[in-house]
Amino acid sequence: MVEAVTETTTTTNTDDGKPTISTVVIIIAMQTEALPLVNKFQLSQDHHFVFPEGVPWVRYHGVYKDLQVNIIWPGKDLLLGVDNIGTISASLVTYASIQALKPDLIINAGTAGGFKAKGACVGDVYLASDVAFHDRRIPIPVFDQYGIGARQTFSTPNLIKELNLKVGKLSTGDSLDMSPHDETSILANGATIKDMEGAAVAYVADLLSVPVVFIKAVTDIVDGEKPTAEEFLQNLVAVTAALDQAVSQVVDFINRKHLGEL
Ligand code: ADE
Repeated sequence: MVEAVTETTTTTNTDDGKPTISTVVIIIAMQTEALPLVNKFQLSQDHHFVFPEGVPWVRYHGVYKDLQVNIIWPGKDLLLGVDNIGTISASLVTYASIQALKPDLIINAGTAGGFKAKGACVGDVYLASDVAFHDRRIPIPVFDQYGIGARQTFSTPNLIKELNLKVGKLSTGDSLDMSPHDETSILANGATIKDMEGAAVAYVADLLSVPVVFIKAVTDIVDGEKPTAEEFLQNLVAVTAALDQAVSQVVDFINRKHLGEL
């Protein structure tokens, strides 16, 4: 049973009378990426069911500064015990989190592959200006555009300036590696980074009119020499530190601000 949940922080107004951001949902696909942030914000695991009984999805929550902070991790596959990465789980937890928590803002944080031809380096942290899918090829007029699902993200010029983040387009698909078909679509999407969740989170959040900020840190160079899986695993922990520092700065920045100030 999914029910709306509220914690106790009072909504205040900024000087110009707009309501400040109060509830934030941070969607993170991997436990390794999520746990340092759970500690940083001193969140506790939720033992009430805001999600349907039996699902592996995990909510950590607490009050940080003036914000109700929720970290949502889709948990581990019930059969295989690995993180529930990819677009299906990302869509489901985004939908369920919005229904249960009514966030003012979603942050989708995670790692990504980067294209050195577009200036990406391992350890770079990007804010995605646009998202699209690269593995939903439907060569029928208009369905082709539906499959790609390209959309601009919520505009955050002050956040980008203040945090000195790199900005680039994000392309999403359900594979870590890159087939020649994927490569063609990613290039057509104009992407600098590729992940496995972003465009799915964007689709659901757009349906329900919740703004999303995408923060993605580069673990591997897709157009480089090293095998992707090897490079990803080698850099995951170190790059997660950079990712979590950026997310932490984003949360500090949004505290006491209204959406129009981002
Ligand atoms: N996350 C980290 N590296 C990635 C890659 N190369 N493709 C998709 N998602 C990723």
